[in-house]
This record gives sequence, structure tokens and C-alpha cells, in this order.
Amino acid sequence: MSTNEHLNECLILGIESSCDETAAAIVAGGRRILSSVVASQTEIHRKYGGVVPELASREHLRQIVPVVREAVEQARVTMKDLDAVAVTHGPGLVGALLVGVTYGKVLALALGKPLIGVNHLEGHVHAVFLEAHAAGRAPKLPAVCLIVSGGHTILYHVKQERANGGAQFTYARIGGTRDDAAGEAYDKVARMLALGYPGGPIIDRLAAHGNAQAVRFNEPKMSGNVFDFSFSGIKTAVLYHLRRNPQLEPEIEARRQALARGDRSADALRALSSPATLDLIASFQRAVVDNLLSRTLAAAEKYSARTVLVSGGVAANSELRRAFEAEALRRGIEVYFPSRALSTDNAAMIAAAGYARFVAGERADSTLNAEANLPLA
Ligand code: KG4
Ligand code: ZN
Repeated sequence: MSTNEHLNECLILGIESSCDETAAAIVAGGRRILSSVVASQTEIHRKYGGVVPELASREHLRQIVPVVREAVEQARVTMKDLDAVAVTHGPGLVGALLVGVTYGKVLALALGKPLIGVNHLEGHVHAVFLEAHAAGRAPKLPAVCLIVSGGHTILYHVKQERANGGAQFTYARIGGTRDDAAGEAYDKVARMLALGYPGGPIIDRLAAHGNAQAVRFNEPKMSGNVFDFSFSGIKTAVLYHLRRNPQLEPEIEARRQALARGDRSADALRALSSPATLDLIASFQRAVVDNLLSRTLAAAEKYSARTVLVSGGVAANSELRRAFEAEALRRGIEVYFPSRALSTDNAAMIAAAGYARFVAGERADSTLNAEANLPLA
């Protein structure tokens, strides 16, 4: 434990570099965020319409040292005050992960502090616990957790078991996407409609101005696990809709030109979108949200979960939040989301997940490696 009397809680430095955000954070006692610094690479990847792995690794290399330094300074602590270093070691882009893992290992070694390997997905689960605990609430377990982002759409059954005098979280995979992640579908549809990158936030804004019942998308036909998702069908349906409606082409071109001029505000893009396009956007979003909602709530029922946790970039979506809250209220279950800042990738969630592993006595050693497909369960 820290010897500084102002810092009598356990201090964990979290490091995250799995995709296109270089992030570092200091969390005290697993629940108090002293600092959370996120250097986003969105501007770099924007012109490619998605994350370019080589560019991501290069940028993480440039950012990792100043981002960690800033997190330590903002928290008004010193490296010596830290109790452990927690770092994301998967899943994600292997070159991107390697930057954080290598830096975390070297830092922990140089400081003589314990090193903890964190699964990025577990980080997203802990983003919810972190804020709930900070607000004096304790989500009841077992819970069903939907992690929904640009890279993942997975449902877990989350439980807590006693281990080494602490409480260890355990995860069982209930279902997941068979093709695109939900955030990926948002980004691809935004690209087809020339709405810029990333697609989620702009579709979220524009959908509020359209009629979500205007365009019908068929439920994906799937056999096997009823808790699996599929989003590529909805994306293709949007493409076919555009082919059947060539009158929408000129406005797509107008938005493309606006984006090329750097005019990417929601107001500017909305002014260049007809009611038919806004209806399509709202209907696409409704189809995605319905899909996420129906499977998550069916899983909650099957596993008798009293709590639903929703985390990941798409959990920032206004309609998703509204729909989950309304349906959860109707069914008498509690639903928790992180704040928008902690929904997308950050290192506070990694520090919080690392804290749970730290108090359970877990330690990583110098063999800790980046694992692109590291499963949580
Ligand atoms: O969790 P995240 O930052 O990174 C990954 O691990 O993927 O999630 C990024 C994804 C992107 O696909 C982005 O379009 C989506 O989250 N997203 C949203 C919203 N904000 C971000 N999707 C829907 N509505 C939003 N408000
Ligand atoms: Zn993520």
C-alpha cells in the first residue's frame, strides 16, 4: 500500500492501447478516478474510414510516454506512490497492444511494482462497476453484460466468487456477433451514406430527426444459439435500399463534398440530408437497437439476472440507452451504463479491472504478451 497518508487507498495505474486510443489513468481504491487521459487517433484514421493497424501502432509509440506522464501529473501523485501497473494485453490489434504491454512491463520492472494483465473486455465490464461503486451503488450479481463497440458485440453472464480473501469476477460467454460488431455496422452505414467517421455519434444525432418505422428491416434468420447477433444483413439491406432509391445519390455526393471540406458537424450534415435519408438512418438504428435489446433481455430472463450492464462505444447511443431503460423498467430489472466518457475506450476501466485482480492476489510476470484474440471466457 502507498505510504503517502493522503493516498491511503490502493493506487493503480491503468494503461490501454488495444485499438485507436492511447490511454492512461490512475484509480484509487478501484473506484475513485484521480486522472483519465485519452489520446484519440480518430483524426488520423478518419480519411481511411476505419482504423489502420500500422498507423495505430506508430501513434501509440508517439503517445504512450506523454499520456502516462500526464495521467500521473493530473492525479498529483508520483510513480513511487503507485501500488501496481495494470495493462491491457488483449484482445485487440497486436501491434497496438504490444506498445502498451511493453511499456507497462518496463515501467513495472523499473519501479519494482507488481504488473497485472487485463483483458480489454473485462475493462469494459468494470467501467460500469467503477462508476456505480463511486456513486454508492452496487449492481446485483449475477448480471448479464452486453459489450457493444466497434470491435465487439458479446453477451456475458457475470458472477462474483470469493478468492484469496477478495472477490473474483467470473465470466461465461452467452452469445456474440457472427459477423460485424454493432459499432462496425454503424461505421459502415455512415460510410455508405457519407456521414463521416466514426459513424455512431453522427447517426445517433441524425436518427432523432427521422421516422424509425419508415423502412422495415427483416430480423436476421439464424439457427443455433438464440443469443447470437448478426449485423451484416442490416448493413446489406441499407445498401440495397440505396440501390433501389437512386434519387438519394446526389445528396450523398453533396455530403461527401462537405466532409472533404471538413464540414462534418451534425447540423451541416443534417442540412444536406432529405427526410427520406433521415428515415433510413432512424430505421437502421432502430433495427440495431431492437436486435441488441431483444437478445440481451432474453438472456437476462434465461439466466435470472436482476441486472443488465451495457458497456462499450455503442453504449453511448441515446436511443439504445432510452430503449434499454424503458424495457428494463417494464420488466423490473436494473440497467447500468457507464457515463459516455467511460463507454468508449479508456484506461480508468483497465485500472479498475486491474484493481479487482490485484486484491485477488493475481500478478503477471515478464512473460505477459499481447494476444490479439484473448478470450474473456
Ligand atoms: O469502445 P470503442 O471506443 O472502441 C472499440 O473497442 O471498438 O467503440 C467505438 C465504436 C465505433 O464503432 C463508434 O461508431 C461507436 O463505438 N459509437 C457509437 C456512438 N459513439 C461511439 N455508436 C452509436 N452511437 C453512439 N453515440
Ligand atoms: Zn473497447
